[in-house]
Amino acid sequence: MSADGDVIARFYNRHPYPPPVDDLTADVAAWSDGTRRRVEHRRLWPTLAYRDDHTILVAGCGTSQAARYAVRYPDAQVVGIDVSPTSIGATGRLVDEYGLANVELHELPIEEAGSLQRSFDHIVCTGVLHHLPDPATGLRCLRTVLAADGALRLMVYGSYGRFGVQLMQDYCRLLGVTPEPSEIADLISTLRELPTAHPLGHLLRNTPDFQHDDALADALLNPRDRSYTVPEALALVDGAGMRFGRWVRQAPYRPQCGALTEVPHGRRIAAMDEHDQFAAMELFRATMQRHSLIAYRDDSPLPANPLGWDDDRWPAYVPIRPTTVTLVEERLPPGVAAVLINQAHTDRDLVLFLDADERRVYQQVDGNRALGDIDGATAGFFERLWWHDLVMIDASAPSDD
Ligand SMILES: C[S@@+](CC[C@H](N)C(=O)[O-])C[C@H]1O[C@@H](n2cnc3c(N)ncnc32)[C@H](O)[C@@H]1O
Repeated sequence: MSADGDVIARFYNRHPYPPPVDDLTADVAAWSDGTRRRVEHRRLWPTLAYRDDHTILVAGCGTSQAARYAVRYPDAQVVGIDVSPTSIGATGRLVDEYGLANVELHELPIEEAGSLQRSFDHIVCTGVLHHLPDPATGLRCLRTVLAADGALRLMVYGSYGRFGVQLMQDYCRLLGVTPEPSEIADLISTLRELPTAHPLGHLLRNTPDFQHDDALADALLNPRDRSYTVPEALALVDGAGMRFGRWVRQAPYRPQCGALTEVPHGRRIAAMDEHDQFAAMELFRATMQRHSLIAYRDDSPLPANPLGWDDDRWPAYVPIRPTTVTLVEERLPPGVAAVLINQAHTDRDLVLFLDADERRVYQQVDGNRALGDIDGATAGFFERLWWHDLVMIDASAPSDD
């Protein structure tokens, strides 16, 4: 496929996404002490020994993602591919500016990833597959370049949470709105008049992206996109010869976390098949705009259930605090000693209230100490923390048995 032979390549050439940047200082700072690399490693590979010298393919890298990965993982070898020369050019400028020697860029469609003739430990494909004419074929092509024990990080749009976007996309199609600058200006003035109850309203107010013309075009005037319900996203993974591993942030998909724990339906959903639980939670929450997940090859040697809380493995687990977690100890209701919040969650009910004993246990989490060495640690408490995305678990040490 030539770079401008496809409607999507043409679109992203004119409206590169994300809006190009020339400053990666925030990435450099946030990843400098190594905690994030450890946390991300455990999200992908709970049981494998730590490494940060992986080969990483950023598939559909847009304007900056491949450079960001190169900055975040200085010892990794990063390859970025994209069909948009404008996006590759913007990434190339970042590579030059930051003198990144560990990244190479190719103007190449995902469907031709096999021509790279390499395999990758880690593939990142976020916000891309849903623009392909045949996402299933695209994912199958990525599988062919994923190492046997590699991990794929995938993000596709979520159907129900994008209902407001779909309404406005249909509206724009009906009016024949095109992504020309004057048309975008007219569209922006129209969006200011949207009824307050319009389902797009909260997105417009809360998504900084929508303040930028190219990002607005990406969302509302994209010539080709589709979205996925939870069962459709899981079927996409399964159909490509891959195995679902976990959600990048799992608490919103779990009835054991948040508001539903207070009502009988929480237990009723928790008794269902796991994939039905995820589907029920998407319907209950209604606002999931995207599904971000980790998947492995269906023939991966990695264990299907890497963490067990009902056997004797857990004392060897080392919990690590994600950098987005904060412990709040002020202005709390009686009997509550602290509240744990993962700032990456958008659903406010996903916080966890701790009593004084639980707070004392959590405060011993230092990223090095195993659960067996944490005074007062129980499998039940740490499983709850893990479901809530409040710890990541390093299960690479052998247990005592
Ligand atoms: C919404 S942007 C996402 C960019 C990046 N993954 C990120 O999350 O910042 C989608 C990107 O996918 C690229 N793209 C679309 N179809 C593609 C294909 N078949 N192969 C490779 N890249 C593709 C577009 O050119 C665009 O840069």
